[in-house]
This record gives sequence, structure tokens and C-alpha cells, in this order.
Amino acid sequence: MSPFLLLLFLSLATALTCSASPQIHIGFSASPQSQTALFESLFTDPTGNFSLCFLRRNQNHLALAVIHVASSQPLWLANPTHLASWSHTTRLSFNGTLLLSDPKTNLLWSTETNGGDTLLLLNTSNLQILNKAKATPIWQSFDFPTNTLVQDQNFTTAMSLSSQNGLYSLRLGNDFMGLYANYPENDASSLRQLLYWKRTALEAKAVIKQGQGPIYARVNKEGYLGMYQTSAKPIDVQKFDSFQQNPTASSFLFVRLEPDGNLKGYYWNSNKSSWVLNYQAITETCELPLPCGSYGLCTPGGSGCSCLDNRTRFEPGVGCFGGSNGNLCSEKIGGDSYSVIRRTGVEPPHKELDGHVTTPSSAECEGLCERNCSCWGAMYNNVSGFCYIMDYPIGTMTGSGEDYKVGYFKVRKSESGKNRVGVRVGVVVGVMVGIVFIGAGVWMMRMRWRRKGVNGMLGEENGSSPGPYRNLGSDSFKSIEMSGQR
Ligand SMILES: *[C@@H]1O[C@H](CO)[C@@H](O)[C@H](O)[C@H]1NC(C)=O
Ligand SMILES: *[C@@H]1O[C@H](CO)[C@@H](O)[C@H](O)[C@H]1NC(C)=O
Ligand SMILES: *[C@@H]1O[C@H](CO)[C@@H](O)[C@H](O)[C@H]1NC(C)=O
Ligand SMILES: *[C@@H]1O[C@H](CO)[C@@H](O)[C@H](O)[C@H]1NC(C)=O
Ligand SMILES: *[C@@H]1O[C@H](CO)[C@@H](O)[C@H](O)[C@H]1NC(C)=O
Ligand SMILES: *[C@@H]1O[C@H](CO)[C@@H](O)[C@H](O)[C@H]1NC(C)=O
Ligand SMILES: *[C@@H]1O[C@H](CO)[C@@H](O)[C@H](O)[C@H]1NC(C)=O
Ligand SMILES: *[C@@H]1O[C@H](CO)[C@@H](O)[C@H](O)[C@H]1NC(C)=O
Repeated sequence: MSPFLLLLFLSLATALTCSASPQIHIGFSASPQSQTALFESLFTDPTGNFSLCFLRRNQNHLALAVIHVASSQPLWLANPTHLASWSHTTRLSFNGTLLLSDPKTNLLWSTETNGGDTLLLLNTSNLQILNKAKATPIWQSFDFPTNTLVQDQNFTTAMSLSSQNGLYSLRLGNDFMGLYANYPENDASSLRQLLYWKRTALEAKAVIKQGQGPIYARVNKEGYLGMYQTSAKPIDVQKFDSFQQNPTASSFLFVRLEPDGNLKGYYWNSNKSSWVLNYQAITETCELPLPCGSYGLCTPGGSGCSCLDNRTRFEPGVGCFGGSNGNLCSEKIGGDSYSVIRRTGVEPPHKELDGHVTTPSSAECEGLCERNCSCWGAMYNNVSGFCYIMDYPIGTMTGSGEDYKVGYFKVRKSESGKNRVGVRVGVVVGVMVGIVFIGAGVWMMRMRWRRKGVNGMLGEENGSSPGPYRNLGSDSFKSIEMSGQR
């Protein structure tokens, strides 16, 4: 055999092994090289659709990610909340444990596994660590979802999805799935979770069997988000728009918890090389958790945002006035820690999920709130006599147009005007700075994407056109074509 042929044979063999084995073995190590790339692929799955890569975030930070290559859409992040720096000192290694280390930020992320010998990326986008002696993987990324659930990924009661800004989460209960808003408590060290959307299993095809184990959820490639228990038949089906429409193998589906608190589903249209919106848990803008910010008023039917306090003008991007957090219990007693706004024709957007008591008059309803420092507001229905107590910071109310619904809201004095120097203000400022930081990062990334002309960046304006419903302090996902919207 001539040296030339041998060389040809060898390179062919290498090419074949490379494309046939989307995996790495013990001893692997890598660091980011490029100064500018949006992502650097480490290896891909057998189809080449997905890649394990270093993904650039906020200009010079790094997340270890599984992305969809054609759209550079992240489907899983190893370290969503603690980004490493994009630097040659950041290192990913595999010695049985997959380990990301960054001496600059002291970040150490690892799968904390023992005895792995292969790292494998499946054609489902699932990253697995295998041990030859064991039948099942010893670790898989599908067990640690971030904000995305791809088709065929099991979502259990032990897991949660968290929006990129950390404000919202998706979790399962005994017989339902729910979306929760995270509120910092007074001392800001702990979070309270408030349910704002709930889907209870309808049990049409299969019923929940008590004592037979917890439920789980999965995006089914036939075009629905299903909940399951013991049977292969779902206990609940939330249909996507594409439900049972020419189910082609190419239409890959996922759902993601968006920064505005909505859960949205998408499918991949390979003809157009773009993601198409296919499902939305919340279809009414006013039912999102914060469409008009704190103390905002959202009027259904497209008339947009205004403020609960009719003396304040709603400013897109600014809102009405700052949010509140925690409660008023540690404020100085004497009634001057807050002022009151009253507004008729408003109601909490998810009042059916809040409890209520019955009182003879709105004065008594307000009294319950006034005397209770955990209470931020109350809504009295003058027809039914129901009194809804809001023991959470006031977000956006919905305009009902029904004058017999009377809202009562406390505004912390430091929020409505005179800024008192204090810990709480500091916390609020901290949160705002955080949001601005995230926003700036996302903006910079988007500019970068735009410059690079990445596929799938069709349509959608940039952040400078404030629509009436721009969600405050969050970024809506712009790289998706919004066709298929209901
Ligand atoms: C892998 O490397 C990490 C960090 O150097 C070390 O702590 C761990 O013990 C190693 N594991 C094995 C199986 O060698
Ligand atoms: C993915 O892999 C499985 C088995 O490994 C195979 O049955 C299936 O056809 C593959 N799907 C695609 C889209 O390549
Ligand atoms: C999801 O759960 C089903 C039923 O328990 C199981 O058959 C399937 O293998 C699981 N899929 C993954 C990716 O773990
Ligand atoms: C995966 O790759 C195949 C073959 O190139 C393509 O037809 C399909 O659309 C891809 N799927 C996704 C989700 O990108
Ligand atoms: C892509 O185009 C082909 C041919 O025009 C069509 O048959 C197929 O349904 C299209 N696929 C999608 C996902 O729209
Ligand atoms: C604002 O609301 C108050 C109390 O509901 C009302 O008396 C007042 O007329 C309103 N002002 C404007 C400008 O609408
Ligand atoms: C104050 O409100 C909270 C939340 O609604 C409730 O749990 C608590 O019992 C109330 N306290 C009093 C004294 O009514
Ligand atoms: C509530 O109903 C009572 C009696 O029906 C009425 O007198 C009162 O004006 C109503 N208040 C509001 C705010 O609609």
C-alpha cells in the first residue's frame, strides 16, 4: 500500500470514527480558544443537530451548554446561575466526573459522579455519563433541566424549570403542574413562591391512582405536553397547535419557561430554519405575572398598561413605581410606613388561586388588610361579598371594568416618594441592578447575534420599541418567529 493510500485510509477511518462516536473518554480536557465566537463546540450528537459547547453569555462569561446547532439555541446549561469566565484558564475535563473549573471566579461545577468512563450526547440532546458495567447511565443532563424541557425528557416532581432571570419556576404537584413567582422575603435570604397558573390533570385517558407514585410530565412528539403516572396513557394532555399535524420526524419540540413567566412550546421548522411558536400556557397578556410591573394595571383587549394610582403615568420600561418585597411587619408602627391607593374595577389576575373570606362590607375587608402587616392589598367584591387578601407584594392587577370590585393597596412610603436609606431600599436597588445587568447582557448578546446574522433570527423588533405590554425587567425571547400564535 502506498503511503498516500495509507494516509487516505487513515484519515477516512478517523473521519468515520469521529462522526460515528459522539462521545469523549477519560482524560479529555478543553478550554475556550476563540476571542469572539458565540459558542465553541466540543462534540456533537450522531445527527449533528445538537452540540455540547462553551456558550458565550454576557460578552465574556461562559456557560457549559447543550445547544441546537442550527439556531444556537441553548437547551440545557450546566451552570445557569454561576457563569464561568470566557478565558483560557477555564477548563472542562473528564476523569469520570465532568468538571468545569474557573480559577478566576472560583467556579467549580461538576457532575459529582464516580466511575464514569464515557461521556455521550444522544440524538435527543441528552448528555449522559456511562459506565461499561452498568446498564443505565450514572448521570444525565435530562435529570437537571434548566429553563427548557425537550421532547421525550421526563419532568418529575423532584425537578423544576427556572426562568433565565430566576423570577419564575415550573413544578409539579400531586395532580397538577403550576407556575410560581419567586418573591424575596423581608430579610431577602429566603424566597416565597406564589402560584399564578395551575393546570390540574383532567384524567380523560387515564386516572391518577392513589399511592401508586408521583406524576411526571413529558413533551410528546405527537404535539402535546402530557402528564403521566403509571400508565403509558397520559392523565392529561395540553395540545400544541401542531397536535397530530403531519408528525414528521424533523419537527423537534420543546417547552421553555420564558423570562415573562409564560411557558411556551416551539417546534423546529427545518424548511425555514426557525423555531415556530406552538403552545402558550398563558394566552392572555394580562394573566402573566407582571405584564405592567408593580402597581400596574393591565386592561384586557389591547388597551395596554396604566397605573393603579391614577395620578401616576405608566412609563414603558419604567412602570409605575418600584416593586415591594417582604412585608411591612418590621416597619415603624404608627401608620406612616405606607400610604393607600384605592381603585374600583380591578382584580388580582389569578384570584381563583388566592383564598377569600366573606365580609359584609368593603370597609371590613380593608380592615382585615389594614391591621395585618403581612397584607399588601385586598379586593372586595361588593356583589358576592368575597374579600380577597393579597399577602404578597402587589404586582399587576387586571382591569375588570366591574365597578363593584374595589381594590385597596398599600404602598410603602419609601416606594412612593421619599426614598429612605435602608436595607430594604438597598435590596430593591440590588434587584433592579441585577435585572439591568441581565438585560444588558441579553442585549449585548442579541447585538452580537444580529451582527453575525445567525439563522432563525427572523422578524421581531429590537428592544427599543416599547410595545404597550413590554414586560418590565425581563427579556422576551426574540429569536423566535412568532407565527403560529393563536
Ligand atoms: C477527577 O478530578 C477531580 C479534580 O481534579 C478530583 O477531585 C477527582 O478525585 C478525580 N476523580 C477521579 C476518579 O480521578
Ligand atoms: C436516535 O437514536 C435512536 C437509537 O439510538 C434511533 O432509534 C433513532 O432513530 C434516532 N433518531 C434520529 C432522529 O436520528
Ligand atoms: C421516561 O419515563 C418513561 C416511563 O417511566 C421511561 O420508559 C423512559 O425511558 C424515560 N425516558 C428517559 C429519557 O429517561
Ligand atoms: C436534524 O438533522 C436532520 C438532518 O440534517 C434535519 O433534517 C432535521 O431537521 C434536524 N433537526 C433539528 C431539530 O434540527
Ligand atoms: C418542508 O417542505 C416540504 C416540501 O415543500 C414539505 O413537504 C414539508 O411538509 C415541509 N416541512 C415543514 C416542517 O413545514
Ligand atoms: C383618581 O381616582 C380618585 C379616587 O378613585 C378619583 O376621585 C379621581 O377623580 C381620579 N382622578 C382622575 C384624574 O381620574
Ligand atoms: C395576616 O395575614 C396572613 C396572611 O393572609 C395570615 O396568615 C395571618 O393569620 C393574618 N394575621 C392576623 C393577625 O390576622
Ligand atoms: C356596594 O353595595 C352597597 C349596597 O348594595 C352600595 O350601597 C355601595 O354603594 C356599593 N359600593 C360600591 C363601591 O359599589
